Amino acid sequence: MFAVHLMAFYFSKLKEDQIKKVDRFLYHMRLSDDTLLDIMRRFRAEMEKGLAKDTNPTAAVKMLPTFVRAIPDGSENGEFLSLDLGGSKFRVLKVQVAEEGMRHVQMESQFYPTPNEIIRGNGTELFEYVADCLADFMKTKDLKHKKLPLGLTFSFPCRQTKLEEGVLLSWTKKFKARGVQDTDVVSRLTKAMRRHKDMDVDILALVNDTVGTMMTCAYDDPYCEAGVIIGTGTNACYMEDMSNIDLVEGDEGRMCINTEWGAFGDDGALEDIRTEFDRELDLGSLNPGKQMFEKMISGLYLGELVRLILLKMAKAGLLFGGEKSSALHTKGKIETRHVAAMEKYKEGLANTREILVDLGLEPSEADCIAVQHVCTIVSFRSANLCAAALAAILTRLRENKKVERLRTTVGVDGTLYKIHPQYPKRLHKVVRKLVPSCDVRFLLSESGSTKGAAMVTAVASRVQAQRKQIDKVLALFRLTREQLVDVQAKMRAELEYGLKKKSHGLATVRMLPTYVCGLPDGTEKGKFLALDLGGTNFRVLLVKIRSGRRSVRMYNKIFAIPLEIMQGTGEELFDHIVQCIADFLDYMGLKGASLPLGFTFSFPCRQMSIDKGTLIGWTKGFKATDCEGEDVVDMLREAIKRRNEFDLDIVAVVNDTVGTMMTCGYEDPNCEIGLIAGTGSNMCYMEDMRNIEMVEGNEGKMCINTEWGGFGDNGCIDDIRTRYDTEVDEGSLNPGKQRYEKMTSGMYLGEIVRQILIDLTKQGLLFRGQISERLRTRGIFETKFLSQIESDRLALLQVRTILQQLGLDSTCEDSIVVKEVCGAVSRRAAQLCGAGLAAIVEKRREDQGLEHLRITVGVDGTLYKLHPHFSRILQETVKELAPRCDVTFMLSEDGSGKGAALITAVAKRLQQAQKEN
Ligand code: BG6
Ligand code: BG6
Ligand code: GLC
Ligand code: GLC
Repeated sequence: MFAVHLMAFYFSKLKEDQIKKVDRFLYHMRLSDDTLLDIMRRFRAEMEKGLAKDTNPTAAVKMLPTFVRAIPDGSENGEFLSLDLGGSKFRVLKVQVAEEGMRHVQMESQFYPTPNEIIRGNGTELFEYVADCLADFMKTKDLKHKKLPLGLTFSFPCRQTKLEEGVLLSWTKKFKARGVQDTDVVSRLTKAMRRHKDMDVDILALVNDTVGTMMTCAYDDPYCEAGVIIGTGTNACYMEDMSNIDLVEGDEGRMCINTEWGAFGDDGALEDIRTEFDRELDLGSLNPGKQMFEKMISGLYLGELVRLILLKMAKAGLLFGGEKSSALHTKGKIETRHVAAMEKYKEGLANTREILVDLGLEPSEADCIAVQHVCTIVSFRSANLCAAALAAILTRLRENKKVERLRTTVGVDGTLYKIHPQYPKRLHKVVRKLVPSCDVRFLLSESGSTKGAAMVTAVASRVQAQRKQIDKVLALFRLTREQLVDVQAKMRAELEYGLKKKSHGLATVRMLPTYVCGLPDGTEKGKFLALDLGGTNFRVLLVKIRSGRRSVRMYNKIFAIPLEIMQGTGEELFDHIVQCIADFLDYMGLKGASLPLGFTFSFPCRQMSIDKGTLIGWTKGFKATDCEGEDVVDMLREAIKRRNEFDLDIVAVVNDTVGTMMTCGYEDPNCEIGLIAGTGSNMCYMEDMRNIEMVEGNEGKMCINTEWGGFGDNGCIDDIRTRYDTEVDEGSLNPGKQRYEKMTSGMYLGEIVRQILIDLTKQGLLFRGQISERLRTRGIFETKFLSQIESDRLALLQVRTILQQLGLDSTCEDSIVVKEVCGAVSRRAAQLCGAGLAAIVEKRREDQGLEHLRITVGVDGTLYKLHPHFSRILQETVKELAPRCDVTFMLSEDGSGKGAALITAVAKRLQQAQKEN
């Protein structure tokens, strides 16, 4: 009895002594609560540094956006392939995610070896090896005939800009294949897979193992919003608010951040807690100077730390009677599984002895106790450090949610956590101590990270399918060079057709003579009134031209034309116009003045002289009755008479294209084309009289108003019209008419966009499938909105704000799609317009028998002026399709009112001359 007591006393004394000895020796490895709180604070600061745009480049903890935006919601389904590369084992898997609502996942997998010569050899060979393993797996599982999406779990730090791409920042742990760093691993693997002609696999998602783990656990527990790996390496991810992630556009919702916490301390932030053993271990590692935190924590290094400590203690005579074995001198001889075995509750001591003996040592009882305690201190430190960093993440999660208490789940995986008998308990305990305000559940990922990776892939594959549908729609708006050349040729043919006497009557491009026969010469002078009707704004102007100095002074006022007047009776419309003139004269203090007037009337008119114009048909938003077939100058005169307040001398009626050409021609005599890309679309140009068969005479030139908006009304461009164009046409005031205009001008582009958005929404690809009242409303996408949405300077969030102003409640993804739709529609418009213009400049060049033509185009219109890309694409297209023409584009700053006044001045002079004759 006494002997037993004595033994027990002896043993506990021995143990106490050994523990004290080791504690003293490893004093620096034992971290106090205060130190842990301090590390927690430091890690919080590191996270912020990594998240912010300007500090990220120098941050040690990279906080990598993963483009995983939501945890699984149970609606995921399908069959997927999965690779899991970078942990202690390399696996290939097939994952079957069950039909909706059934939360059931089936997996079949196969492990493949990862020999050092592969993982530390040539990078291309590594990927080829991985592809070969996949091919082998598919063959065994009889999957080769199937087209399957693949999720790649790749457990290394990758900088991602989308889910299916990731540039390796650096190898960590045991991997060091050459020529992979700084390349996109997804394209590397894709390339390697191409060697297998019978394999059709699409890599849809690249996920870190932490992310896979979080997603695996979240599939079973929706509270899971963080993932931790404590295995070969260590790392964590968590769901961060988008508004805090500077590196990714958008502020809505959350995105998973792969912290890559293993690199914590790489900038020296942990030097005060690192020991001589940590430094020695680092020097002998594959990546010296890197992954400081990881090297104090993870499975790949724990055993080695223990070995280095034992060696030093032995050298100091504190262990094994000062004896060392050659195994103890050999790197890697003590592994994490040994540490775990030595720390086992009951068999621990016996295991320790066995392991030490295997290392060629002859341990005493005291040695075994001491060695066991060394293991405990090393693994305890590991758990403590992990806990401190995790506590920082949990605090961040809680603060982001602005709650007092956070209930959350952390998904965990990794061999160290799984096989070490005390590790989980210690970790959990310390985390709870460090963040008392969080109720944390730790959930072990039983099925690795693959299940989660499959969830991510499932979502990606749904997104991809949707993307395909969207692309299909947008493809309808993409024109090939051949198609544009074809449009150019057809336009050219129509231009000629309209000029010929016998075909003129039937031409859809009407080629209307304007009786404007020359550009201003600078001698024009006088005071004129001008009206500008038919664009976005109705204006009345007073234009004072001073001769000789090419200087013009203008005063103008914009008046609204209410919709009911635009589409009321002709009398009402012209009465309203005269009312506006009266207001203007009053406003200018010119009441009762009789001035010559130039009338810019931006609709197709058949003219027999400069002061007569019969409206052929309304276009754009006008539809007043009793005007078509009438002379609009007469109608204006009658309205003036009806008012009986003042008299005006209506000298000229001009189309806006003609006014614009004149405005620009006043500055640049080379300006022989006028182009409007605004509410409507049209072009005029100076044609040789001899080519104009409808007008007598062969001398000189006359301006032809092409009215090209009607191009295609005979069906000649139906091959490029889409169902959306048809829809817009059918809903317009003039169905079947102005088909080219309806594909190229501001009044219709927004409508095309709206039709596409309605269709995409119907297909469930936008606005959560809900077609709102606003979306059903005609005309919501005015040119100015299109222009804003497409502006490159605008962040996604601002696009969303614009859409919200339009009453369209969109997500960030929706905004991206809307922007793309706008881009496709406006691009096509600019290209078509460019093809039309190319036709005319080429015609002018050929008509004059020139090798090269230099010509200026005067341009106006809100689409051209406001849209961020329209003018550039238009110009590029002209250059491409008419390479022998050197076309200068001159923006009309003063509108067409100035040009109309100049025409009036010339006409007035001619009138005068005729009278005098
Ligand atoms: C596995 C996961 O369960 O754990 C891997 O499927 C992960 O993706 C690994 O890398 C981490 O642990 P270890 O110990 O294998 O590095
Ligand atoms: C104006 C001209 O600047 O542009 C008008 O003065 C012309 O005559 C108009 O009709 C065309 O652009 P929008 O976009 O207003 O139709
Ligand atoms: C290393 C890798 C990291 C991975 C971790 C766990 O730290 O850099 O990406 O998550 O190991 O496997
Ligand atoms: C419409 C009109 C045309 C005008 C153009 C630009 O196409 O028919 O006359 O030039 O719009 O405003």
